[in-house]
Amino acid sequence: MTVLVTGGAGYIGSHMVLELADAGENVVVLDNLVTGFDWAIDGRATFEPGNAGDIDHVVKLIEKHGITEIIHFAGSIVVPESVTNPLKYYANNTATSRNLIEAAVKGGVKHFIFSSTAAVYGMTGLAPVVEDTPLNPMSPYGRSKLMTEWMLADVAAAHDITYGVLRYFNVAGADPGRRSGQSTPEATHLIKVACQTALGSREKMDIFGTDYETPDGTCVRDYIHVTDLIAAHALLLKHLRAGGESTTLNCAYGRGYSVREVVDTVRKVSGIDLRADEGPRRAGDPPSITATGEKVRSLLGWVPRHDALDEIVETAYSWERHLLTRNR
Ligand code: UFG
Repeated sequence: MTVLVTGGAGYIGSHMVLELADAGENVVVLDNLVTGFDWAIDGRATFEPGNAGDIDHVVKLIEKHGITEIIHFAGSIVVPESVTNPLKYYANNTATSRNLIEAAVKGGVKHFIFSSTAAVYGMTGLAPVVEDTPLNPMSPYGRSKLMTEWMLADVAAAHDITYGVLRYFNVAGADPGRRSGQSTPEATHLIKVACQTALGSREKMDIFGTDYETPDGTCVRDYIHVTDLIAAHALLLKHLRAGGESTTLNCAYGRGYSVREVVDTVRKVSGIDLRADEGPRRAGDPPSITATGEKVRSLLGWVPRHDALDEIVETAYSWERHLLTRNR
């Protein structure tokens, strides 16, 4: 059995490669290195440069390496960019996924795991969502991912392949052994930005909106540690290999933290009173997005192990410091 990880040079994909390699699996990484880094790919994996949407290339890789499963992380992920450049998202996410799925079917791949997003829900209100909460994506990013979910369902109904969709909430943190982390310098994610500010890579940061109908007026998110998220992928792979049905699961802890709480935690962990200016709302931000995570726990037996916000921030901060010394 060999697992193909697309986007294995990126933030989340590189953690998947670590998990699979640690478990003694054969891993092939397919990545075009547009946003990923070749140094982020664990040395135990075989790296094949290229595009996940290149059908002939992927079919050849499936034959060459005897690939039995695909875990598909590659894609574009910046929500505001998807609004100004939707075609990029329909190309890199929807069209690429379509071709990758065709290659999977042609090559006889048995199981396909896909990285989806909480953005498929849209404005959710303050209550936690569940998997059958109505889907109403607010951005081309969310729609580009939802279309891939639909394609997988249609293809699995027509061909001999099963799939798992994981809808990620706010992924953060880094490998506790500091082997990988979020390495994109221009990342816009809150915990990354706050850690960069604490370390002086940014002079200050902004808190986008303090007048939301939330307990402290700032937006609430369900931050999930990347290592726990990856553990859900490993369990899902086991489920599919054991003949389990195709499924769609939210990956979240079922609790939320506000922007202020996150910034204060970064201050506490770093010991640095970083500058965070209160500013206007950022367009398109829902006040609160959390999910119960009931289904992923009950179906897969998933147990969170790194859910304390302090640990999420500590590992993110430690990785950020590591990047600074690396780049010196
Ligand atoms: N925020 C700030 N200042 C910053 C950065 C973020 O106040 O410098 C706030 C945002 O306004 C938001 C919260 O922190 O209220 C979280 O923002 P992130 O950018 O970290 O994450 P999002 O919730 O916007 O987006 C994430 C993923 C997307 C995914 C989405 C699903 O990054 O890929 O969740 O809801 F689509």
